[in-house]
Amino acid sequence: MAEISIANISKSFAGTIILEGVSLDVANGEFLTLVGPSGCGKSTLLRIIAGLEHQDSGTIAIAGSSVDMKAPKARDLSMVFQSYALYPYMTVEENISLPLTMRRMGTLQRLPLLGGLLPGAGAIRREIAVEARQVAESLGIAHLLSRRPGQLSGGQRQRVALARAMVRQPQAFLMDEPLSNLDAKMRVKARAEISEMHRRLQATFIYVTHDQIEAMTMSDRVAVMMHGRLLQVDPPQRIYDEPKTLEVARFIGTPEINVLPGTVRHDGAIEVFDKIWPVVVDAGRHAPVSVAVRPEVWEVAQQPGEGSLLTGTVRHIELLGSETLLHVSFAGSAASVVARVEPTVATRYRLGSPIHLAVDPARILVFTENGKRAATLTRSVPSQVRNLHG
Ligand SMILES: Nc1ncnc2c1ncn2[C@@H]1O[C@H](COP(=O)(O)OP(=O)(O)O)[C@@H](O)[C@H]1O
Ligand SMILES: [Mg+2]
Repeated sequence: MAEISIANISKSFAGTIILEGVSLDVANGEFLTLVGPSGCGKSTLLRIIAGLEHQDSGTIAIAGSSVDMKAPKARDLSMVFQSYALYPYMTVEENISLPLTMRRMGTLQRLPLLGGLLPGAGAIRREIAVEARQVAESLGIAHLLSRRPGQLSGGQRQRVALARAMVRQPQAFLMDEPLSNLDAKMRVKARAEISEMHRRLQATFIYVTHDQIEAMTMSDRVAVMMHGRLLQVDPPQRIYDEPKTLEVARFIGTPEINVLPGTVRHDGAIEVFDKIWPVVVDAGRHAPVSVAVRPEVWEVAQQPGEGSLLTGTVRHIELLGSETLLHVSFAGSAASVVARVEPTVATRYRLGSPIHLAVDPARILVFTENGKRAATLTRSVPSQVRNLHG
């Protein structure tokens, strides 16, 4: 297993810039997820790491040495694709064994009839069969070894693809949306299996997905990519709590983070809908800002309290079973917010009910006009703000 170092990788296709100076160091044994919307360049970057595509500039190093001049096979990486790429005419066992057969046996030895007559071939084949069975057992598919891919469910095929990737000990695993062909229930199960596989192998994983839930649930660190650039690389909770830009804040989290228009007052305090909020920013005076609050951060109340910041009307109620989403609109504004609350709390509200929203000042995120996060202060609140709360 090895660390992978991606330094300043750029790539264009037909004059269109797809990757622009991407740099990222993935530690030995780390599970790093590259997440971003479709078309942002994730697969291209993964294919460049694997050597299936060549970068215009920049360097890829594995275990400390450059692999730029190395063919894909010589980079010793295991790849799992969305399509699984299983051979339909081979059995599950043959599919899983293939990477070992290709590595350990010569061209002639691999021939089904003649190969058997050559010295050593039988012993290698038996050894490979044992290893393939061990991996199949670890993924619970040993009973499927003699079947062909066409006779398997989507989830089983996905496990065969994982088994084929696991059968040898590569420098690292590269996975490109391996779960996107599974239904929602299978995907949850497969997420847990891949995490388990990572824990067991303690291998370096680079996992590509457009699904932020996969990114959040499996990774040591998440790299958020948009328009061919990395916007932020951090552990999942940090990306969620401390997004560096408004784009990252919006991309990570469902339902999406609430964003309200605000202005910075002369004293640095922030005003939203003519009300002063309990945060002070070090941003240009009188500048417009975006004030962002995660749906679960709102404290809802039927009556205005001393911390109330917004008063609105419940416009839509979404029951999700374990939680309820209250959609709130505001008189005289096109803006609306979503509050995620306990179902027992939600039963106090009907469509058209007035609702008052408060928020822990430490959880308010402020972004300047260019989308960058502005540092906020909540402790040394100026007197105007303090007065507001008595
Ligand atoms: N071989 C190629 N030739 C031309 N354009 C390509 C090629 N591969 C990818 N692209 C383009 O590069 C962009 C990024 O693609 P891709 O890396 O597959 O994105 P993602 O995996 O994030 O969805 C897309 O606009 C895609 O059409
Ligand atoms: Mg892709």
